[in-house]
Amino acid sequence: MERLQKVIARSGYCSRRKAEELIAAGKVTVNGDTVTLLGTKVSYADTVTVNGTLIEPEEFVYYVLYKPEGYVSTTDDDKGRKTVLDLVPNEKRIYPVGRLDYDTSGVLLLTNDGTFANLMASPKHKVDKEYLVKMKGFLRKHESAQLAKGVFIDGHKTRRAVIKNVTYHKQTETSFCHIIIREGKYHQVKRMFETVGHEVITLKRVRYGVVTLDGMKKGEFRLLKPHELKQLRHMANS
Ligand code: URA
Repeated sequence: MERLQKVIARSGYCSRRKAEELIAAGKVTVNGDTVTLLGTKVSYADTVTVNGTLIEPEEFVYYVLYKPEGYVSTTDDDKGRKTVLDLVPNEKRIYPVGRLDYDTSGVLLLTNDGTFANLMASPKHKVDKEYLVKMKGFLRKHESAQLAKGVFIDGHKTRRAVIKNVTYHKQTETSFCHIIIREGKYHQVKRMFETVGHEVITLKRVRYGVVTLDGMKKGEFRLLKPHELKQLRHMANS
């Protein structure tokens, strides 16, 4: 169920504020009855008209983008940098679900479904995010163990994480590993590794729940498959 003014605005008929005026002015009907109450909720099965015109609700779309480095994950940028919306069709006013840093690559979901975006972003929900991390120095066993148990960022302990596939590159004195977390605090992964003394050099999100980059090239996008969407919703609610 959505608020009537939101459904009207989402259809592209007019802004939400204008929709509120039209509702108050008695220009809107729901299933044939004039509705003037602003908080009225309707479902997509209801028939809504404005000034006698049938409102076609906008369809929801869900994309996964293989975000390249060098793009911001916002809808516009005050520094004029390229945004992830430059890489996807945007006739439906979609926006990113959460953020990846400018210099982070990997799985980024985009949608115009606010309920879904909020569900994914909520800290209560349990969707794994897996990152491939390249860092300075050699990641020691006790440091991995600390990261897995939780470290303090801004006075809050991070929740349990999984660290796996640790490898070392002797010549460049760097390490690689995968980390799986469920939270999504600002710069979370970079700050977690900083707490154990490793600066992150590159960061790539390789998985978001069941969604991976398999078969995708940097900068490419695709629609989420119905089973992926279903599983994401299921995980978030479990
Ligand atoms: N953690 C980070 O530090 N950066 C990201 O982009 C994602 C997770």
